[in-house]
Amino acid sequence: MTSTWTPETWRGRPIRQVPAYPDPERLASVEAKLRRYPPLVFAGEARRLKAALGQATEGRAFVLQGGDCAESFGDFTANIIRDTFRVLLQMAVVLTFGAGVPVVKMGRMAGQYAKPRSSDVETQGEETLPAYRGDIINGPAFSPEDRVPDPGRMEQAYFQSAGTLNLLRAFATGGYADLHEMHRWNLGFVARSPLNARYQDLVHRIDETLGFMAACGMNSVTTPQIRETDFFTSHEALLLPYEQALTRVDSTSGEWYACSAHFLWIGDRTRQPDGAHVEFLRGVKNPIGLKVGPTTAADDLLRLIEVLNPADEPGRLTLIARMGADKVERLLPPLLRAVQREGRRVLWLCDPMHGNTITTAARLKTRSFDAILTEVRGFFDAHAAEGSGAGGVHVEMTGRDVTECVGGAHRLSEADLTRSYETFCDPRLNAEQSLELAFLVAEELKARRQPTTEMPAVAAQ
Ligand code: PEP
Ligand code: CO
Repeated sequence: MTSTWTPETWRGRPIRQVPAYPDPERLASVEAKLRRYPPLVFAGEARRLKAALGQATEGRAFVLQGGDCAESFGDFTANIIRDTFRVLLQMAVVLTFGAGVPVVKMGRMAGQYAKPRSSDVETQGEETLPAYRGDIINGPAFSPEDRVPDPGRMEQAYFQSAGTLNLLRAFATGGYADLHEMHRWNLGFVARSPLNARYQDLVHRIDETLGFMAACGMNSVTTPQIRETDFFTSHEALLLPYEQALTRVDSTSGEWYACSAHFLWIGDRTRQPDGAHVEFLRGVKNPIGLKVGPTTAADDLLRLIEVLNPADEPGRLTLIARMGADKVERLLPPLLRAVQREGRRVLWLCDPMHGNTITTAARLKTRSFDAILTEVRGFFDAHAAEGSGAGGVHVEMTGRDVTECVGGAHRLSEADLTRSYETFCDPRLNAEQSLELAFLVAEELKARRQPTTEMPAVAAQ
């Protein structure tokens, strides 16, 4: 039996990861302001994404979700947004070749500002301050002024999300994403990388195909699929006062939609079946995600699936597994079996980042490229063994030339990390490592492709 839902029923549920705002009246006044602002996304777009994710659930599409661990207010520039976007485009083209199906693209962008933390406080020397919870809540500097949660940051996050989304939409439909521009997506430092030859080979093959298609009458003018792409936004639905304030009734369907992004997910720390975050997301009609970490029990997972997707609607629920390279082989198969046994229609993505974070002797958080790849392979293996569909990947990456994860084509070592370590939160793959991962995942996909996805045999006609 489910109780009535409204955008604020979450307020009656136990909640984790809440910032301690010192001034509740100021919080209420910012919420009231946000409630009057226009939605950032339109419900029809969220439905389109849901349909695309439904295709992926049935093996007819593959999903690429990626972006910063945490966007930062300071990184709000056209170049930074463009660089992440173009690496995602490059990765998507590479994956399309491997998967042989369309790639659904979702950025951890235009709203990924709130972070769950394992501790409420941080201590440096003698001083203990509230932990940094993402730019939508407080500031990263270790000072009392920065660390006080400030509701005004929600308004700034709203406007920066709007600005980011505006540019992303312009890139996606205004000509930048045209497949004829593929050679221009390559970033300077990737052009100097060992991967460049492989990328150029792909560009060349696509150019040839486009030439052939043009000869048949299909070009950027006649065929919008060549000229533009669908690009969706997503973030963790962590800061519920913000999410509630941006929830709207869709005038065409009369249903509630979270309008801060197309896709919202529940983090591994806030997935309690009776908790506030699950309560909030169960009532909005967007496609939603649920992180599935190593402590997820099969029974709890089934309960969550029932709460979040009672109608078993394809594309509604994406499970994002983040087990760790050393655990995926053992912990994922029982969950896949439980879901299969109950015949639930869910999409599975692999997040090979969050189970593989380690801290170096110099106290920097990093991840190894090898562990990331091992987890992806373990994820594909588990799905293959259980006859379940591996639907896509979820990565923390940036278009910038950072040194945050070790390994990859340039064999970054722990000593290299300090050269360009910029993240305020988790370590990200840089542009080159991201592209390399896409090539390796594409190889896996190609090797595992079922004969039934190939051209049908003539004899069958
Ligand atoms: C994240 O995706 O940045 C995150 C915090 O993940 P998780 O909830 O899986 O730990
Ligand atoms: Co992260």
